[in-house]
Amino acid sequence: MTGRVTIVGLGPGDPRFLTPAASEALASATDLVGYGPYVDRVPERPGQRRHASDNRVELDRARFALDLAAKGSRVAVVSGGDPGVFAMAAAVFEAVENGDPIWRSLDIRVEPGITAMLAAAARVGAPLGGDFCAMSLSDNLKPWEVVEARLRAALAADFVVALYNPISSARPWQLGAAFKIVAETQGPDTPIILARAVMRPDERIRILPLSEVEASMADMSTIVIIGASTTRLIERPEGKAPFVYTPRSYGVRP
Ligand SMILES: C[S@@+](CC[C@H](N)C(=O)[O-])C[C@H]1O[C@@H](n2cnc3c(N)ncnc32)[C@H](O)[C@@H]1O
Repeated sequence: MTGRVTIVGLGPGDPRFLTPAASEALASATDLVGYGPYVDRVPERPGQRRHASDNRVELDRARFALDLAAKGSRVAVVSGGDPGVFAMAAAVFEAVENGDPIWRSLDIRVEPGITAMLAAAARVGAPLGGDFCAMSLSDNLKPWEVVEARLRAALAADFVVALYNPISSARPWQLGAAFKIVAETQGPDTPIILARAVMRPDERIRILPLSEVEASMADMSTIVIIGASTTRLIERPEGKAPFVYTPRSYGVRP
């Protein structure tokens, strides 16, 4: 079988953060498949077919890509950030597991990208310098009870927590509920990073104490990072944002 599917991470936005390997995978594809705004981020190439679709049809998109590859195409499925983080790589493998057995013989590869959590962390300092975890706040594919239980467990373990998919028009209350859960156990000065559209022209980053944060400050292009008890701010002169970092040591002074 000559077809291939490569699930390509485009990184957070700025094309300078696309890896050379991801660029090569895009350049050698006969077909690009993905959510419209991600396909739009890839420069057009003569002869390369572009199949943009709606964001809500990930499994259909994955099956479509696998079908094209089974017919001999070299398909690049594009994803923002890293394709393995709450994105298309899992959708493709889910389709393979449950779909046409012929898809199991295909050459399927994943090209990593810089995920939003790492891009946001780099903008403010080193908030992920200690132990951390990432979770999606979306309850589209898992019940809210699971989201809540995982968030409580992460907070109890004193991880820094990165929240993907914090809020959308279809999920307006979940982030507010999450902040209330955080406030049950963490102090009012806990640093919260709201990083919107990181590495895109409309980037906006705010660092606030938990006591001042509101869910309405985030949107679907925002990643929220909740500091652990050890996460600190290094204040800087007037007009300069503080650095945020989490020391590597825990309970032991460096
Ligand atoms: C479906 S997830 C996809 C994550 C993506 N695969 C990644 O690795 O970054 C979408 C969520 O990722 C976060 N996100 C993606 N790109 C972002 C960016 N440039 N700035 C801030 N958050 C971003 C937001 O939380 C958004 O709701």
